[in-house]
Amino acid sequence: MRTTTTTTTTEHRITMLLLLRTKTASMSRAVFGARHNRTELETSSSSCYNDHHHHRRHRHQEDNTLRTTARYPLRQNGRRRRRCVASKIYSSSSSSSSMDDFLTITKPDDWHLHVRDGSKITSVVPHTARQFDRALIMPNLTPPVRTAEEAGTYRKLITEAAKETNARFEPHMTLYLTDETSEAIVEDAAKSGYVRGFKLYPAGATTNSSFGVTDVKRVMPALRKMAELGLILQVHGEVTHQTVDIFDCEARYIDEVLKPLLDEVKDLRVVMEHITTKNAADFVSTFPEDGRLAATITPQHVLLNRNALFKGGMRPHVFCLPILKREEHREAVLNAAVGTKSERFFLGTDSAPHPKGAKESACGCAGVFSAHAALNFYAMAFDSVGKLDKLEAGKNYGEMVDMTEKI
Ligand code: DOR
Ligand code: ZN
Repeated sequence: MRTTTTTTTTEHRITMLLLLRTKTASMSRAVFGARHNRTELETSSSSCYNDHHHHRRHRHQEDNTLRTTARYPLRQNGRRRRRCVASKIYSSSSSSSSMDDFLTITKPDDWHLHVRDGSKITSVVPHTARQFDRALIMPNLTPPVRTAEEAGTYRKLITEAAKETNARFEPHMTLYLTDETSEAIVEDAAKSGYVRGFKLYPAGATTNSSFGVTDVKRVMPALRKMAELGLILQVHGEVTHQTVDIFDCEARYIDEVLKPLLDEVKDLRVVMEHITTKNAADFVSTFPEDGRLAATITPQHVLLNRNALFKGGMRPHVFCLPILKREEHREAVLNAAVGTKSERFFLGTDSAPHPKGAKESACGCAGVFSAHAALNFYAMAFDSVGKLDKLEAGKNYGEMVDMTEKI
């Protein structure tokens, strides 16, 4: 997988203390599963909006060289153990840590992130800014972020919220594509310098998607203009027909919408967001043109299969859309991330915080919050197939654009 980078200078290198001796299964449990899942994700969801104590702990630790990004108190065999997953920022190239315990990679970017609005921004953003220098910010606020001007205002708030943690943090923006998105809106977006593309939510597919696209035919002029101006279409790839099983919505979207769209708008660059199926992994890996189609991959879709939703009872904190799939799909997505076409797959957490009460509800919101330990989660998944060496790769999201231009 491409963990894309802004720079390769040594002070931007991040070293993660990993728990390499722990088996993946128990790591997954520690992060998302069973009682530990409850503890970890409850903490993270509530800490997004309410738990300032959690933030104070981080601030205190930032005074030292070692920045702890997450601590997992684990109970194993009846005994309580503390394990620490930490990241360490170095100001020089020296990395004297033991190979067994540390992995050093160039600092990556998060190409799919929700940071919400209002006071939530200041709670959520520092988690990402601690591990990343850049992120692509999703526009599904209420009302959505539809113009470059609105994105500019939003971007300033995010930069401000990140400043104390990481003054280098750059939010990159994507605008919410609606049936009304005009060519003029696309032109303004291209001129802005900070808008990377447009996010296509099929209307009704997910959280705050009611302003989304009702039929791709309606946005063809905007899509053609995007192709002309080099903006990237980020797609939530799920059909919304009530008659289609929730586990099949992604596969159906590829056949019914994505393939025809890529055929019709020849120069359009598309990122299929948060892929969850073998169908999507294969589709992206085997797409004939380099640089025109890529995908983002979340931590939960490479760590968990759909059993996690029901393990010992309903697990609202691992409910997201697209929903977790069968084990064979989890494996296929992880294999794509570490495989021979890995440069087509980008890190995109889709970290999507909701208030605790909105998750633990009779009609709980979709979204997994993972920003507090995003890199660690990916490292666990990659380690589970012995491919930690694949966690780092050099190319950046923008180079997808350049690659296409060379074709
Ligand atoms: O699970 C999800 N949560 N999927 C999405 O597509 C949106 C996101 C959110 O905004 O909460
Ligand atoms: Zn998302």
